[in-house]
Amino acid sequence: MNFHHRNVKIVATMGPASEDEATLRALIAAGVDVVRLNFSHGTHEQHAAVLRRVREISHRLGKAVAVLQDLQGPKIRVGQLPTEPLSLKADETVILYPEDASPPKEADTKAIPVDFPDLPRVAHPGGRILLDDGHLELHTLTVDKPWVRAKVVLGGELRSHKGINFPGTPLDIPGFTAKDERDLAFGLKQGVDAVAVSFVRSAADVARVRQAIAQMAPERTDLPIIAKLERPEALQNLHEIIHAADGVMVARGDLGVELPPQRVPIAQKEIITMANHHAKLVITATQMLDSMIHAPRPTRAEASDVANAVFDGTDAVMLSGETAVGDYPVEAVKMMDAIVQEAEGHFTQWGHLAEMETSATRDDARSLTRAARELAHERDVAAIAVFTQTGRTAILMSKARPRVPIFAFTPEESTYRRLSMYWGVIPQQVPFANTVETMLRHVEAALRATTPIEPGQQVVVISGFPVGAMRPPNFALLHTVGEAG
Ligand code: PGA
Ligand code: MN
Repeated sequence: MNFHHRNVKIVATMGPASEDEATLRALIAAGVDVVRLNFSHGTHEQHAAVLRRVREISHRLGKAVAVLQDLQGPKIRVGQLPTEPLSLKADETVILYPEDASPPKEADTKAIPVDFPDLPRVAHPGGRILLDDGHLELHTLTVDKPWVRAKVVLGGELRSHKGINFPGTPLDIPGFTAKDERDLAFGLKQGVDAVAVSFVRSAADVARVRQAIAQMAPERTDLPIIAKLERPEALQNLHEIIHAADGVMVARGDLGVELPPQRVPIAQKEIITMANHHAKLVITATQMLDSMIHAPRPTRAEASDVANAVFDGTDAVMLSGETAVGDYPVEAVKMMDAIVQEAEGHFTQWGHLAEMETSATRDDARSLTRAARELAHERDVAAIAVFTQTGRTAILMSKARPRVPIFAFTPEESTYRRLSMYWGVIPQQVPFANTVETMLRHVEAALRATTPIEPGQQVVVISGFPVGAMRPPNFALLHTVGEAG
């Protein structure tokens, strides 16, 4: 293929550094395929304004962009500190307490309010408490309800609202909070394209959100749910979670706090392989180009990390602070695009192709997409064209990881937008095609708009037959461009 085509998609998190019209337009023009609204921050008004802006820009540029709503989940945080920052020194003693309880009486001991009423029940002598993504570490000494006395092991500057983790302690708190419920209702009303669920522990946490969607918006029960894997329990229950969800996120930030960092690369490979095997979406997230928050160039280790996620077989790579609060948001997207494209040039040599599971998804669509890949490679075609309503055929085609771009034609706007998350898929919104001739006209127009076509070039087209009957795909056509009826 001789036009600029990247298979792995780029997710960009919104924040003060990216939300204005000009930056957002530059980010999307530079290659952002998915915009992530992080509901741990910002107001509903802010998120609604960004979503409106994304829709406008996407329409103007003629480029599909999905909006991913990321729910905060049961994240425990430091409360409001009386003075910022609070400086903690190694070996000193501090007292943590639930922000609703009374602060400790000792005036000379540093006190840290926590937005978690169950703190005294969860903390136990000898247990570790990590603050701010593990940058600071405490060891619990004694629990004298409601006060938890702890020794500073790793000191540093603590600020209000930073995250707290209790590694190795299963927390008996609901995975779907009252805030998540309000945020989800808002997201459904605004028409987000997918929802990410934080701190998933089991398939039941995913089912809970699916149930909530069914109650709040029965017409949107097909909204893709992405389970964020950031708790050790989630890795133990990986198989059931992958079955229950439409996709997963390798949420390396919290995962690397809950688990020792050296476990994270292995978890990433296991998660990506299993997700691909089950034809589910997989996003690799957090710290991919972290140093670009403050520098125009990434470290060499970060460049390697992005390339290796591509070789592992991820559908998408994600930027967090880099685009949300960084000094170089557009440069970060351009750099990610360049690293991904370079890696993809060597994908056949170094990339891992996970075979799709043969038992669970043995049906016409799966067989046809695999046959389309073989045909595409054998005939060295320019592209594969897929006609789809729900998007499922395009997803299966993506998971077959062909060496050519996948044009996905759909009349459905929601399908058009959500397909922008998947590896290799170029979504095209077209009026409903009810003859093969109309389909071929759509295919040729899309190809010509994207790439210079050489005489005799071929395309593999797959759809349901009879055309227009909206049935799962059972029809493949090897079409030579220019020979349309
Ligand atoms: P977060 O999730 O950015 O919402 O914390 C991603 C992660 O933990 O890696
Ligand atoms: Mn997280």
